Amino acid sequence: MKSDDNNMDIRIVLADPKENRDELILTERAFYNVYMEGCDEHILLRDLKKAKEYIPALSFVAKDGDRLIGAIYASKAFIEKGGKKIDILTFGPLGVDPDYQRKGVGEKLVKALIDKAKKDNYPAIVITGVPTYYPHLGFKSCYKLNLKMDDGAQFPALMGYELEKGFFAKEESRFSLASVFSIKHSRKELDTFDLCFPPLKKEKRPGQWKKID
Ligand SMILES: CC(C)(COP(=O)(O)OP(=O)(O)OC[C@H]1O[C@@H](n2cnc3c(N)ncnc32)[C@H](O)[C@@H]1OP(=O)(O)O)[C@@H](O)C(=O)NCCC(=O)NCCS
Repeated sequence: MKSDDNNMDIRIVLADPKENRDELILTERAFYNVYMEGCDEHILLRDLKKAKEYIPALSFVAKDGDRLIGAIYASKAFIEKGGKKIDILTFGPLGVDPDYQRKGVGEKLVKALIDKAKKDNYPAIVITGVPTYYPHLGFKSCYKLNLKMDDGAQFPALMGYELEKGFFAKEESRFSLASVFSIKHSRKELDTFDLCFPPLKKEKRPGQWKKID
């Protein structure tokens, strides 16, 4: 692991099942200005922890000593196939503190979740995430898995990981997420939420695709 090369003392432990200010700050720091000016993943995390689909037993944080440096949050999601609705897993937000990115922390968090998901007998994980990051951790493109969103859409960010061998074989799988992921927050609401945390500077950067009002 690259993290060990850097003399870091990385521990992966369960996330706080309840709202936790340090976790909100970490998530804000990880996502700030990446996909929009500012971010909305920290407010999603606040809402997700109140949702019935949130799974504390599969949500982890990474620590370097006492410092919180990364986190991954799991929730129940669904696949419809062959006339059946099947409970599966998704995760997000997954964020690593900018000071610690590209040192293997994200990988450790994803692997911790996969290992526990196997033990808990979940059949599959489906995510919408960075298409360049997840393939080396074993995630496959939706185009290879005959996997679609519930409205039939396919796009490179939609990826699946089979925990039960053959889960995606044969029939088409249609994926849906907990409704908390569809909540839209206005710019005003996000700016007000940001006031609760140490100030960060909004920046325009290439690759910001999220639009908010
Ligand atoms: C994406 C993220 C979770 C990855 O975690 P990490 O600890 O930085 O990544 P790891 O050290 O496990 O893996 C890094 C490797 O993944 C690959 N990679 C591909 N796309 C990447 C990306 N967008 N960010 C980081 N690594 C990426 C690279 O090969 C990289 O290795 P390299 O540094 O030798 O080129 C982290 O960078 C992050 O929090 N980014 C901002 C928030 C975000 O985009 N979250 C994911 C949303 S789906």
